[in-house]
Amino acid sequence: MPHKHLFRDDYSEGAHPRLLEALSKTNTQQEPGYGADSFTHEAEQLIIKKIKQPQARVHFVAGGTLANLTSLSAISKPYESVILTENGHPNVHEAGAVEATGHKLYVVAGVGGKLTPDAIQKVVAEHTDEHMVVPRTAYISQATEMGTVYSKKELQALSKVCRQHKLYLYVDGARIANAIMAEDADHDIDTIAELSDMFFIGGTKNGALFGEAIVIVNPNLQDKFRYHLKQRGALMAKTRAISVQFLEMFKDNLYFDNAKHANQMAQKLAKGIAECGYEFLTVSPTNQIFPILPDSIIEQLQKKYGFYVWVPNVSITGKTSTSAIRLVTSWATSQDAVNEFLSDLKSLGKT
Ligand SMILES: Cc1ncc(COP(=O)(O)O)c(C=O)c1O
Repeated sequence: MPHKHLFRDDYSEGAHPRLLEALSKTNTQQEPGYGADSFTHEAEQLIIKKIKQPQARVHFVAGGTLANLTSLSAISKPYESVILTENGHPNVHEAGAVEATGHKLYVVAGVGGKLTPDAIQKVVAEHTDEHMVVPRTAYISQATEMGTVYSKKELQALSKVCRQHKLYLYVDGARIANAIMAEDADHDIDTIAELSDMFFIGGTKNGALFGEAIVIVNPNLQDKFRYHLKQRGALMAKTRAISVQFLEMFKDNLYFDNAKHANQMAQKLAKGIAECGYEFLTVSPTNQIFPILPDSIIEQLQKKYGFYVWVPNVSITGKTSTSAIRLVTSWATSQDAVNEFLSDLKSLGKT
């Protein structure tokens, strides 16, 4: 039976209606291809204004894996590597896309899903000669894959250590809006731009039909990037299909409002689940939460709701074994779906 509600990811729906309207309105306007169109130019200018980095350049690509692999391969020499945590997306969920471009991913232990300056320093110190790779880039995602958010202070510390060791700081922003709109977030997108060399602004998970905006802040990394995109099949003849959407999302606050709603729905779920007495794998202020529930209850919930079991067998006490599940909300998650889930969880807890 199909699930009544999906909390599986943040791309279970199509696009925010305003983006479909924008695509429809601009549909027959004739424009040059490959990003030389007026929509792409305007979207780039809007983003540059928002991030307050006039020298930055913006490139639109179809998806997150493509953004990571084109960016990380473009900024690395053949013998250079990328440092990231064990749950960093390119390490676990991209079918080795970055490695397939010839670059070693150097995996370190994260703290709450976050990369630390100490870990970066240790990797740099361990790589001493030409028998090893040269660490060149620190990859982080904001928000992390554990739903956690780097504070401004943490970003500053990462940026400082990277600059000290001539490493680039690359920020995967598939959920950048969720991080910025988290309730106690202490920075805006311009802080991320200021502290990183390159990052991407995720559209796919935040209301776009598809598409991400790669922002190259560091001018030294901007030359010939379009060649890298073209060689990897990422330069779209109809780039306008992405940039029209970004234009719509950034012409007012729609991009951030979408994330605010997704976060609110996840936090409502988290509050209700905590009130039922359950714990969480991490404290996440964003749109991904990881409650730990008895397997018997998970089994019942799975009949009606779609979600992933993220960490099986978190603990086993007597006859009760528990697992961590992942619940993800989006710009389109309804209050009703959240209320229904909580009410079902409450009644299952009583049986
Ligand atoms: C942090 C992060 N980066 C990149 C991606 C890759 O996006 P896609 O699967 O659209 O290529 C994802 C997708 O789940 C993600 O969570």
